Amino acid sequence: MRGSFVVIEGPDGAGKSTLITRLVGRLGREGFDYVAVREPGGTPAAEFARRGAFDHELDASSAAELFFFLAARADLVEKVIRPSMTAGKLVLSDRYELSTFAYQVAGRGLPDAAVRTANALATGGLRADLTLILDLPVQAARERRTTRGRNPDRMEGEDLEFHERVGEAFLNARGPGFHHIDASGSPDDIEQEAWDLCRALVDGTMAGPAGST
Ligand code: TYD
Repeated sequence: MRGSFVVIEGPDGAGKSTLITRLVGRLGREGFDYVAVREPGGTPAAEFARRGAFDHELDASSAAELFFFLAARADLVEKVIRPSMTAGKLVLSDRYELSTFAYQVAGRGLPDAAVRTANALATGGLRADLTLILDLPVQAARERRTTRGRNPDRMEGEDLEFHERVGEAFLNARGPGFHHIDASGSPDDIEQEAWDLCRALVDGTMAGPAGST
């Protein structure tokens, strides 16, 4: 038995949290056996690494930051995601490996090939079946971020150029199982589009990771 692995990605401020809350509600109402996780975090070791990645005082180097995220991912994959998939559940994750390529490769400038190798070690090669990317123009993402009114984390406090590189990386991301959703649509429309794609995956009417795009 193998479950389904769905990931929601996008820049800070694109409306991921709203979408995930709605999808989780819908999964529950429709009786899905699901597990919702968010990266980085979800196990004691991953939460420990999360604090390292975000602690301003540590001021971690770019490579050190990468390894915090990958440490969190490695533990979450081994302890939660893989066992849930083996049990036939649907796993819904708030961010996964695409975030690393957007923030640490495009944003921080770490080398793509080396990050790919390190990430593959962390995931054991586990790819999402469906990666939904919320597309938002860089300027709009910035406006949404600044109206959130909480202390920026280490990424959110980065300059405009950093966020432009991250935003472009998300907009240009192409890969197996990747689908872009226009984040400027209404929350209802975004939810419906995402839900239809999740259903198609679960119902087997969508090409798997080896197929689409
Ligand atoms: P968080 O506050 O957990 O959530 P949100 O997704 O709502 O912003 O912040 C996660 C931050 O970590 C976000 O700025 C993206 C960043 N991040 C990376 O830089 N690399 C990664 O591999 C992951 C998973 C996240």
